[in-house]
Amino acid sequence: MLVAAIILISLALVAYTAGVWAERIAGRLRPFHVVLFGAGLAFDASGTWLMSLIAQAGTHDSATATGGVLMNVMAVTGLIALVLMAVHFLWAVVVLVRNRDAELRTFHRLSVIVWAIWLIPYFTGMIGAML
Ligand code: HEM
Repeated sequence: MLVAAIILISLALVAYTAGVWAERIAGRLRPFHVVLFGAGLAFDASGTWLMSLIAQAGTHDSATATGGVLMNVMAVTGLIALVLMAVHFLWAVVVLVRNRDAELRTFHRLSVIVWAIWLIPYFTGMIGAML
């Protein structure tokens, strides 16, 4: 089950990264980018949900103290990043529907910031799981 959770989170990473960078390269928010943000959010939410189920079952303990601290960092920043991604997705839908040129062209600044924050739980989770 942990493998399934890690695959889901990694699919979220792929979808978010593709969406955020395709948007930045295009220089303008398009419906396709918002579809990728939505797919990333779905993978992110289901992966996070699976991980918290596994943690509740309590069958796995981190081998080292550092690993344990990193797992807490992952859980806390991960939940913050998930909420930010949900807000980012909803805001992207609003910007698309409102269809104001200036907003469509500058949305990628917000996207990159939210994406960078999201990478923190991903990498602390990965390193923490390895320690
Ligand atoms: C954005 C990325 C991630 C999020 C939001 C996230 C979220 C979570 C959450 C909420 C928990 C439950 C912690 C608890 O309640 O104590 C957890 C546990 C865990 N995660 Fe992640 N995680 C992410 C990335 C990763 C990655 C990349 C790996 C490994 C490659 C990973 C491996 C684990 C492991 C091994 C556990 C512990 C399960 C257990 O206690 O048996 N996570 N994660």
